[in-house]
Amino acid sequence: MFTSRQIARRIPLRSPRRWAHSLPQLNSVTKEDLAHFSKILPPSAILSTLSATPTPASELEPFNNDWMNKYHGKSTTVLKPRNVKQVSEIVKWCNERRIGIVPQGGNTGLVGGSVPIKDELILSLSNMASIRSFDDASGILVADAGCILQSLSDYLTPLNHVVPLDLGAKGSCQIGGNVSTNAGGLRLLRYGSLHGSVLGLEVVLPDGTILDQLTTLRKDNTGYDLKQLFIGAEGTLGVVTGVSILAAPAPQASNNIMLALPKFDNVLPLYREVKKQLCEILSAFEFIDRTAYDLGVKHGQGRALDSEVVEGAECFVLVETSGGNREHDEEKLNNLLESLLDVDHPLINTGVLASSPAQFSSLWAIREGLTEAMSKEGKPYKYDISVPLHKFKEVVDKTRDHIKEMGLLHDGAVKYVVGYGHVGDGNLHLNVVASEYTPEIEAALEPFVYELVATYRGSVSAEHGIGVMKTHALQYSKDATSIELMKRIKHLFDPKGIMNPGKVLV
Ligand code: FAD
Ligand code: MLT
Ligand code: ZN
Repeated sequence: MFTSRQIARRIPLRSPRRWAHSLPQLNSVTKEDLAHFSKILPPSAILSTLSATPTPASELEPFNNDWMNKYHGKSTTVLKPRNVKQVSEIVKWCNERRIGIVPQGGNTGLVGGSVPIKDELILSLSNMASIRSFDDASGILVADAGCILQSLSDYLTPLNHVVPLDLGAKGSCQIGGNVSTNAGGLRLLRYGSLHGSVLGLEVVLPDGTILDQLTTLRKDNTGYDLKQLFIGAEGTLGVVTGVSILAAPAPQASNNIMLALPKFDNVLPLYREVKKQLCEILSAFEFIDRTAYDLGVKHGQGRALDSEVVEGAECFVLVETSGGNREHDEEKLNNLLESLLDVDHPLINTGVLASSPAQFSSLWAIREGLTEAMSKEGKPYKYDISVPLHKFKEVVDKTRDHIKEMGLLHDGAVKYVVGYGHVGDGNLHLNVVASEYTPEIEAALEPFVYELVATYRGSVSAEHGIGVMKTHALQYSKDATSIELMKRIKHLFDPKGIMNPGKVLV
């Protein structure tokens, strides 16, 4: 058994440039390759600086740079197939020619997994955006991988169903990207992880074979459940082209309430009480520390709470209920609020109960907008970690203290260290907001943060994945046997290493 410090010493910190040497030997896209691709795709589906009529490099920028503008690729070519057959033909060719492929959905990933490390080909799923079927009796939705999450949600609303997944990036992220990152989001507390709600997948394997596991069965115990391997594989095992997912019946009533807490120590007892009282109608319990709240409001995310609500609050909790009867749910929420205040030592200072759909959305906007607020404030180093709930604040405080000890707090280097996240899932989002991304700050944070997580036997990725950011940190959350098995699985599917090279495993 290693202590975290010993583990840290065994694991060298590596920047993407320094690990590039361990990438497989892959070929760049050539004009000959483009000539082949143009037999598969119409000209409008090929963006390339190598074409006879070259695409301006500026048009490739949104594909080469990630959402945070932290990771940058140099791909010359983006292909946008319309169907699985085209994906299969492209992948087969790339495998024969040893060309690296980066599958790309909405490019909202936060770990640098969705952009190339060098000049790999970008395979965008955005032209595969059709809904294939929906059965309103079973609730099973089958959709192309490129469907945007919000459009699936809009499709299901009049059919009285909801996608069992919701996140701040819903307007851009795609269901294939959600599956490939095993996205968690704001509804996991209610609907569980995609490992449970995804019923089937269609995947193009690295040799071009189409794996049709697009079943619409709730139950299927015929041997190994292969689809699970692709959920959270971050494009390293194949290209997801179709998804069968169990939608949930739409709640007939949703309410939310923002609670202001005098101290972080009250969050856990509050969670226990809220679970006890709201029981089956509880659908979200989200934590926001004071600095995160202030930054959210500063950058226009939702309407600021009244000053008397905010005053004296160390943190906030957003509670959502989703149930079948508005009066019943509102009564439960009101009773909760009353009982929380009507004690000698209240867990909360006060709370704001949404009284209109606009206020409901505004309270959610404060929470959902935090990601954007951090990026508007500066350059956020984002750690999406699993740690015991009672350690959330300790992690944020220890990180802030460490940054301070290193002389990096303020003076233009690190501006804020903040925490928010999904209490119900034990998932803290630790954000260190700097003025710039610099090697000095990164070296101060890594392996410090990963080491800290290891001391709590936590996970270095609760939901965003490993991507390129955390390949060197995988060992903090997975033992050597697990990593070895993962490498063997990768080799079995992708012996030439063409699928999203340099991501997850190096
Ligand atoms: P991309 O960013 O395009 O890709 C992500 C990874 O999946 C890459 O490795 C890529 O190669 C691979 N990939 C994409 N599509 C496919 C495919 N069809 N086949 C194979 N591989 C593929 N994450 C959460 O878990 N919870 C949150 O609450 C959450 N909130 C967010 C809020 C904001 C504002 C932002 C910007 C991001 C958030 N994320 C969250 C992170 C992100 O993981 C999700 O937004 C989403 O799941 C990524 O989907 P995408 O289509 O953008 O995938
Ligand atoms: C969230 O919960 O808001 C997302 O996972 C994104 C983030 O960590 O900022
Ligand atoms: Zn999250």
